[in-house]
Amino acid sequence: MPTKYDDMTPHEAAEALRWLALMGAEEIILAEQVNRLAAPAPRAPAAAAPGVPSPEAPSLPLAATGPTAAAGCNSLAEIAAALEAFDACPLKKTATRLCFADGNPKARVMLVGEAPGRDEDIQGKPFVGRSGQLLDRMLAAAGLSRGAEDRDSAVFITNVIFWRPPGNRTPTEAETLMCLPFLLRTIELQKPDVIVCLGATPAHRLTGRSDGILKLRGKWMTANVSGRNIPLLPTLHPAYLLRQPAQKRLAWRDLLSLRQMLDAH
Ligand code: URA
Repeated sequence: MPTKYDDMTPHEAAEALRWLALMGAEEIILAEQVNRLAAPAPRAPAAAAPGVPSPEAPSLPLAATGPTAAAGCNSLAEIAAALEAFDACPLKKTATRLCFADGNPKARVMLVGEAPGRDEDIQGKPFVGRSGQLLDRMLAAAGLSRGAEDRDSAVFITNVIFWRPPGNRTPTEAETLMCLPFLLRTIELQKPDVIVCLGATPAHRLTGRSDGILKLRGKWMTANVSGRNIPLLPTLHPAYLLRQPAQKRLAWRDLLSLRQMLDAH
């Protein structure tokens, strides 16, 4: 099929490639081009029962559909499906796929990171790149793993943001707030005994504090989600530990504190 790129001179093609790289593209993932910025095809309205006039769909402002869509979910699978159908977050247009969660939904421990990176965007699972591999090794040292079947040794992993920000840029306040109802509903449904925040973004969102992560880390706090107080431990993000390996000793202290909390309750 001819594309607009067939008409380009080599110079124009090189300029287009340079622009894509500037926008954060790092590799070619699909053989077929996908215009992620094209308007989505309108959804077919649900068929009305014979003889019953079909009601007009209520026109909610797009961002306001988040809380409603999240509140209507009664399982983690329904949250994943609601996110697949949620078109208000602009990050969805530039991401390859949804990256919702991984691990054991029955786990006592929920880990919350910031946002998917390149590897997570390709695989659709949180923390599968280099920082995820470090995270898995750290968890194993504390007797925890995302693959464990018993809830005492298992973890469930998700992020504040469910689509990769282009070029791994920091998500905006608006993008974070759009995703927040889905994270909160995930916490309500997964019912963790303990939440571990990886880095400042989830710690700020779930505690309302704004101090730097080096001040917050290692201190037990509380996340109040729908009237339930959940013990929450902020710790250092594994990507930061890859850049600052000397700080691993602090993360190790936090893991020991997590282990003690789990063993005591
Ligand atoms: N960093 C995050 O915060 N989340 C991921 O899923 C991967 C890297």
